[in-house]
Amino acid sequence: MRLSASLPLVAIAFYALAFLTQSQSAAQTVAATPPMGWNSWNYFAAKVTDKDIRDSADQIVASGMKDAGYIYVNIDDTWEDKRDANGLLHTNSKFPDMKALADYVHSKGLKLGIYSGPGTRTCANYEGSLGHEEQDAKMYADWGIDYLKYDLCSFHRDVMEKQAPNDKAAQMRLMVAAYEKMGKALKATGRPIVYSLCQYGWDNVWEWAPALGGNLWRTTGDIEPRWMSIYDILSQQAGLASYAGPGHWNDPDMLEVGNGKLTLAENRTHFSMWAMLAAPLLAGNDLPNMKPEIKAILTNRDVVAIDQDPLGQQAHRAYSKGEVEVWVRDLKGGAKAIAVMNVGSDVYSTHPFRLDLAKLGLHGTQKAKDLWTGKEMELTNDMALELASHDILLVRIASPK
Ligand code: GLA
Repeated sequence: MRLSASLPLVAIAFYALAFLTQSQSAAQTVAATPPMGWNSWNYFAAKVTDKDIRDSADQIVASGMKDAGYIYVNIDDTWEDKRDANGLLHTNSKFPDMKALADYVHSKGLKLGIYSGPGTRTCANYEGSLGHEEQDAKMYADWGIDYLKYDLCSFHRDVMEKQAPNDKAAQMRLMVAAYEKMGKALKATGRPIVYSLCQYGWDNVWEWAPALGGNLWRTTGDIEPRWMSIYDILSQQAGLASYAGPGHWNDPDMLEVGNGKLTLAENRTHFSMWAMLAAPLLAGNDLPNMKPEIKAILTNRDVVAIDQDPLGQQAHRAYSKGEVEVWVRDLKGGAKAIAVMNVGSDVYSTHPFRLDLAKLGLHGTQKAKDLWTGKEMELTNDMALELASHDILLVRIASPK
């Protein structure tokens, strides 16, 4: 082949390689660390409006949450109206102009998330995306949407049970295909959109979600602002650590910090453990009316840094004794985070817990930082720890021995 004829080929190969490298790095930057932000469901549920989203975005900036890393402002269910003759889905009167809302949120340096599902109806019985996946994904991209939570709900009844009655394995294949379809549709828009799977952990979602573009996936049913709900979900995360990593995360559901009747200790423990789990940190409280002590929890930079550690290694439960559990997370550069929790409701300081450093792979006295008091401290073998019910000691050891 003459050189002049082969030149275009060389150019094509060069551009193809450049494109591939670019798109690979774009893929890597979506959710390289667990997504942080806020979602409307846990506090507003079906009542959420355009104004609530704008007020929450304003408050994320004013409260310092944005500076602490909270970027996504996510509209959950109940923004949808009906489809027109062309199949185009319209917003309902609570959200008069989604493009204008996206522009507003972006003008604050934040990103906007939205919600749908693969069935005919969403969980709150609004219009779903079945049969309109590409059209909906394109509409989200046109609006400037940066994050999609895709919730199974009626797909179970509409498609899985109808098309494969009494065949659970076939039902699960239909479910996986539905998530793959939206994953492809989002990718085809060319816009980086975080893809959040919400199907409650069915069929070991952590095994197959990353391959179809999932950046996070719910591992359980819905969280509630009660200690037992939070602890139950936490317990179900043990054993899932190896499935999380940059770009793809286990999602133990959105935060309830500041909601319901959780005590300060419970709020602190919930937030600490979601950080240990490398969980997405999506606050779910009433931001404009947030109490200072709740803001202090959500914006604790040291705890957020554990969640956002670039290694992306989720914590595992090292051991438990009585009602005390000890979880460990490996951090970048060989550092470690250790959480010691009194998960019981009736064991108090009259029975101090004694820390066994060897069970954590540590040898002798360790210099550590207590991430809730901000004070430097020493962890010694067999030291007595007195933790109030549902409270936590969370420390970072910069140079473990
Ligand atoms: C499901 C999800 C919740 C929320 C609601 C909305 O229950 O798990 O997080 O999105 O639907 O209807």
